Amino acid sequence: MPTAKYSFPKGFLWGTATASHQVEGGNTNNNWFQWEQEGHTAHKSGLAGDWWSGRWQEDFDRAAQAGQNTHRFSVEWSRIQPAPDRWDEDALDHYRSMLRGLHERNITPMVTLHHFTDPLWLTDLHGWETDAVVPLFEKFTCKVVETLREYCNLWCTINEPNAYALLGYVRGLFPPGKFDLKLSIKVHANLARAHAAAYRTIHRIQPEARVGYALNFRPQQPAHRWSPLDRLVRNIQFEGINLAFPSAVSSGVMRTPFGRVALPEVRGTQDYFGLNYYTTNTVAFDLRNRSSLFASSIYPPGTDVADGGMNANIPEGFFNAIKWAVRTYPNLPILVTENGIEDATDRLRPRYLAQHVHAMWQAVNFNWPIRAYYHWTLVDNFEWERGWTQRFGLWALDTETQQRTKRPSADLYAAICKANGLTSEAVERYCPEVFSKLFPG
Ligand code: BGC
Repeated sequence: MPTAKYSFPKGFLWGTATASHQVEGGNTNNNWFQWEQEGHTAHKSGLAGDWWSGRWQEDFDRAAQAGQNTHRFSVEWSRIQPAPDRWDEDALDHYRSMLRGLHERNITPMVTLHHFTDPLWLTDLHGWETDAVVPLFEKFTCKVVETLREYCNLWCTINEPNAYALLGYVRGLFPPGKFDLKLSIKVHANLARAHAAAYRTIHRIQPEARVGYALNFRPQQPAHRWSPLDRLVRNIQFEGINLAFPSAVSSGVMRTPFGRVALPEVRGTQDYFGLNYYTTNTVAFDLRNRSSLFASSIYPPGTDVADGGMNANIPEGFFNAIKWAVRTYPNLPILVTENGIEDATDRLRPRYLAQHVHAMWQAVNFNWPIRAYYHWTLVDNFEWERGWTQRFGLWALDTETQQRTKRPSADLYAAICKANGLTSEAVERYCPEVFSKLFPG
């Protein structure tokens, strides 16, 4: 067997990403807790990964021992600001300890300020549906960054604003579970305004900061190229989901298939492009599927699909997503802020991981400025409306006992992080079924 290695540039950041509500447990003061109580989710988040009681320490040990040199986590707005007129200094101390804990383990932190959850008091004020949210988010950002600036200079303002607007206001899967296109555009625009306000606030407090947001980029292709209806729904999905927020950041105008919003203040507010890529969808026109805007997603026969059917292993789509990012923002570094797959038995994850790292390596070899890769996720976490049915962790979590069990992918990823690249030995050992694809000849 030949010995070969796909190497990454020196200083490349390899890590994992997590989000507060998915790992902390006991978050009772946010809209997701309420959504869970109302029965909209497969399970309740409960203790989640129990990070709030301190289990982040053992998980950060795992990450460090596995050679990870960066970690992206989010702070929980509802804990830091439990009421509009109150800051919880203990909660801020908790995040300070986590950041110190990362530094002690030589792990560079990236902090996300908003990852899907809102304080209940904000929901009572109509959340992201009114402009009033912008100064509120700005104030929260200011407090967090003033408090934590000593430990972090890499910030992600808002995770997947496009998913937030889509899933909460069109698909009805996230709170508040509405179907209202006009409102979804308004929410999307307010997320962009808040992002821009946060961008400026962070730079005012910490001029050297690097600030961006994370976009859920889901390439789409029509099921049948000859079908005008498939092409139509594909274009609506592609433009609505993937392009609206970036258009606001590029040009100051948010362009959606259903209208435009002028947002001049949003133009140019990112120091890197944050890419979340999971899979590529094939979409067909489907009159019965109103909440998906008359599109059904199908995976063509032969696609390497995860058990839950949500994501599939399509590494070419990852390459194309990176290519799109480079073409759209030729002067910006790209951080892969999330990439991963649900796979409780780890039958597919090793090859998914190896093939996606390989696709990223191909992009790096075009000299495209990719600087970091965050695998989603470190340990199984609470998967939103799907509860505990989807397992994305390198480590499995037993929610009854809080016991973690390492999956083979954790070792494969450790081999990648430690080698700063993908070796033929690692592929041969963890996913021999794709060896000849990745190391032909
Ligand atoms: C979200 C995560 C989620 C992951 C897997 C991403 O879109 O940012 O919170 O767990 O997808 O579904």
